[in-house]
Amino acid sequence: MKRILFATSNEHKFREAESVLKAYSIKIVHANVSFPEIRADECSTVARSTATTAFEQLREHVIVEDSGLFVEALNGFPGAYSAWAYKKIGSKGLLELLKNEGNRKAEFVSAIAFTDGKKTEIFEGRIEGEITQKERGKNGFAFDVVFAPVGSVKTFAEDTEYKQKKSHRRKSFEKFAEWYLNYLKKHEG
Ligand code: IMP
Repeated sequence: MKRILFATSNEHKFREAESVLKAYSIKIVHANVSFPEIRADECSTVARSTATTAFEQLREHVIVEDSGLFVEALNGFPGAYSAWAYKKIGSKGLLELLKNEGNRKAEFVSAIAFTDGKKTEIFEGRIEGEITQKERGKNGFAFDVVFAPVGSVKTFAEDTEYKQKKSHRRKSFEKFAEWYLNYLKKHEG
């Protein structure tokens, strides 16, 4: 089975991906590197560009993932700028922005880009939910403490099992896995 690199400096992302891909017997290897990212409103646009940069340096089949939290009342902010926004204001800052806001709807989006150097494929996963009034939970990372997905009263940080089953990343990696197994059959069969 061909190994595939997952280029990310985020250990949480890698572990979440690994646990999805294990069920498909796809072996991913952690390339703990980060590349300069372009600025764009769509995670898929960022992922596509980063995959090309990653391939140029690593010269192996590689996947990258770009994700973000899109808050409806903030017109989609922080969206593809979530990593930067989290560094600057954290989840407390997000709660502050939504202090007097009744509309708490938000969506996590994950976009994976796979490239073999010739072509690049994109896979997206999404999950809707609400921004809670307070931080809750100890697990996960970044905005997990303030995001309660549809179908659960708990935040992702309170219920990692639910996150692992339903998250945006679970969905994008499942789509990738199904496609990649076919890709391998075509290219190695
Ligand atoms: P990226 O590494 O540029 O894709 O940035 C992703 C950012 O989006 C993270 O730093 C978080 O702020 C946010 N984010 C994406 N996925 C998640 C998640 O599963 N939980 C919590 N925050 C997330």
